[in-house]
Amino acid sequence: MSKVIIFDTTLRDGEQSAGAALNIGDKLDIARHLERMNVDVIEAGFPITSTGDFEAVRQISQELRKPVICALAHASPEAVDAAWKAVKDARRPRIHVFLSSSEIHMAHQLKKNRDQVLKLARDMVARAKGYIPDIEFSPMDATRTDPKFLYQMLEAVINAGATTVNIPDTVGYTIPQEFGALIQGIFSNVPNIGKAVVSVHCHDDLGLAVANSLAALEHGARQIECTINGIGERAGNASLEEIVMALRTRKDLFEYGTEIVTTEIYKTSRLVSDLTGMVVQPNKAIIGANAFSHESGIHQDGILKDRSCYEIMDPKDIGLSGSTLTLGKLSGRHAFKVHLQELGYELNDEELRRAFAAFKEVADKKKTITDRDLEALVAEELRTVSETYHLEQVQVSCGDRNVPTASVRLTGPGGTAIADAALGTGPVDAVYKAINRLVGVPNQLTEFSVKSITEGIDAIGEVTIRIQSGGKTFTGRGASTDIIVASAKAYMNALNRLLAAMEKLNSSAR
Ligand code: KIV
Ligand code: ZN
Repeated sequence: MSKVIIFDTTLRDGEQSAGAALNIGDKLDIARHLERMNVDVIEAGFPITSTGDFEAVRQISQELRKPVICALAHASPEAVDAAWKAVKDARRPRIHVFLSSSEIHMAHQLKKNRDQVLKLARDMVARAKGYIPDIEFSPMDATRTDPKFLYQMLEAVINAGATTVNIPDTVGYTIPQEFGALIQGIFSNVPNIGKAVVSVHCHDDLGLAVANSLAALEHGARQIECTINGIGERAGNASLEEIVMALRTRKDLFEYGTEIVTTEIYKTSRLVSDLTGMVVQPNKAIIGANAFSHESGIHQDGILKDRSCYEIMDPKDIGLSGSTLTLGKLSGRHAFKVHLQELGYELNDEELRRAFAAFKEVADKKKTITDRDLEALVAEELRTVSETYHLEQVQVSCGDRNVPTASVRLTGPGGTAIADAALGTGPVDAVYKAINRLVGVPNQLTEFSVKSITEGIDAIGEVTIRIQSGGKTFTGRGASTDIIVASAKAYMNALNRLLAAMEKLNSSAR
């Protein structure tokens, strides 16, 4: 079976999703999960664009030893040099150079003619090749490019040293038959194509990114660029979990497969959603909350008789335990720890202490605690490790005859206890105003959403928010059986991220 190279661009194209701001620690955390998942190539960032991006690529290159670490560069000497400096410590570094090739982009954006574009592409690939052997080139907007010019460009960059040529459907415009024919055309018309791996990079503007990527494989492409949860510019990129599970589930049809450790998918998906604040829709294929839940009576009957009646994949294959069972308020610390280990969480003593305390608190209010509840609790404890302010207590009074009032107690820097109260238009507004009085960092709440982790009136609610300050976005999440408490936790989570970023900025200015 021939191998499909999985090139993950969650940390680059994925981070280009509106509002998905990741700090360096977040990126390292995601990169470690991608390595555990056995992703072949990690596109860690676009180093020329910011010092934060440069630093993230550099640290990922220094730490991760297994996957190829790739840095993106537009076709300019400075960008190529920055990409090289960022990946130079990687065990397996790659530079990915891109330049637009469609008439629309060349005329309106680049303001260059074909000859100028061809020369620039060749020169920048050669420059990158002077640093390292593993070079990828992307003719941006390839699917709206004159195929003859595309063939010419690919031949030129392969001669200049490109070892992977990536065909991006930048604006998500193509459809499977057309894209398959384009890839076939490349194999028939680019004389030196045998010297490079053909890759594809599809956007989901028409909801066809995964279908287009799979169609390209049929015609000889052997690298797919994709992201966890399908996040990315505009409607996003092809989703890694959909590609991987399609190839695995229909191995009867495909003569090629990936080496992804699929049992890591769910955990990684959840982490990416947590850190980017991009909630996964319940009906999302593979990793949505409803992907393995069966509602209709006929379906439930079939599932009880034989799961294969209505399930084409085993939830365990993506890392879901499949059990609805159940720790309760009498469960001890040891059972709790063992259960978490079964779910793939290795917590240190302090994290375990905090997660167990949170579990006991919830177990007092909720009869059964499912694996999804546990994951929400653990994710929260892992999130709150570096806090400047910690939420100790929140109390609200509200109702249709009351002015909503909140009082909040926090532990601040140096362990000092501080408390304040505020009125608001609703209970969450009152809580946020009370917290603002204590923390005193100006910001704007731009998004607020609540979802329930499991069914039932006693379900754990998870609140996701985004705040903006100084032109940057910070996400926060909090979980509790009480959605006001979850809202307060989410706000503290976002504020602590904002404060950590401010502290970092101040210390680098010192
Ligand atoms: O969509 C696109 O064209 C890209 C390139 C940089 C590969 O993201
Ligand atoms: Zn893209």
